[in-house]
Amino acid sequence: MRMLDKCAANQGDRDNLPESARDAEKDRCALGGAKAVQGIQNNPECADASLSAEAGETLITLSCRINGQPVTAEVPPSRRLLTVLREELGLTGTKRSCELGRCGACMVLIDGRPVNSCLTMAYQCEGAEITTIEGLSGGGLHPVQQAFLEEGGFQCGYCTPGMVISVVALLSENPKPAPEEVEEALSGNLCRCTGYGGIMRAVNKAIEKGVG
Ligand code: FES
Ligand code: FES
Repeated sequence: MRMLDKCAANQGDRDNLPESARDAEKDRCALGGAKAVQGIQNNPECADASLSAEAGETLITLSCRINGQPVTAEVPPSRRLLTVLREELGLTGTKRSCELGRCGACMVLIDGRPVNSCLTMAYQCEGAEITTIEGLSGGGLHPVQQAFLEEGGFQCGYCTPGMVISVVALLSENPKPAPEEVEEALSGNLCRCTGYGGIMRAVNKAIEKGVG
């Protein structure tokens, strides 16, 4: 089933959403306009949906690097980085949740700094070096991911990519953070499973191992 058909099938559900959520849903479904994404394999389902591009829609050429690869894309000004990553490049390790900048599930590194991709417009990433959870290590697990695995730092795992990204950013800047500095660094990452005990054990293990 094409992406737009899926969206249309859920129209009744969306009518019951608050306006902000409907806007977000519209943004998800309005995949048109991404005429070309080069550098990382495109998502064929979304390429199909690009047939819906509105006539006369202004596109901006975005050139950046994602996980070490050069990427060029034509994006409308309203396109969020989160949408480009997940729906056009198939990098679904970056999670969509609140879309309001409150949960950190969509966290990526932009030029080494942790950023909520749901609040970042794609055009703002011109020339940027973006790292998603898929690009953290060249092969195998990044040491922070390994620490989460060993210490049970996840339950459903939905928050984990964002948590890991935030920890990697923290330890690369401050390899021996104090507990309050860890709490501050993770204050923008919420775990709906409330598995903070395991998460803190994982962070402490990564610190002990000298990650960063
Ligand atoms: S989805 Fe971006 S902060 Fe929650
Ligand atoms: S492990 Fe489920 S949201 Fe954190």
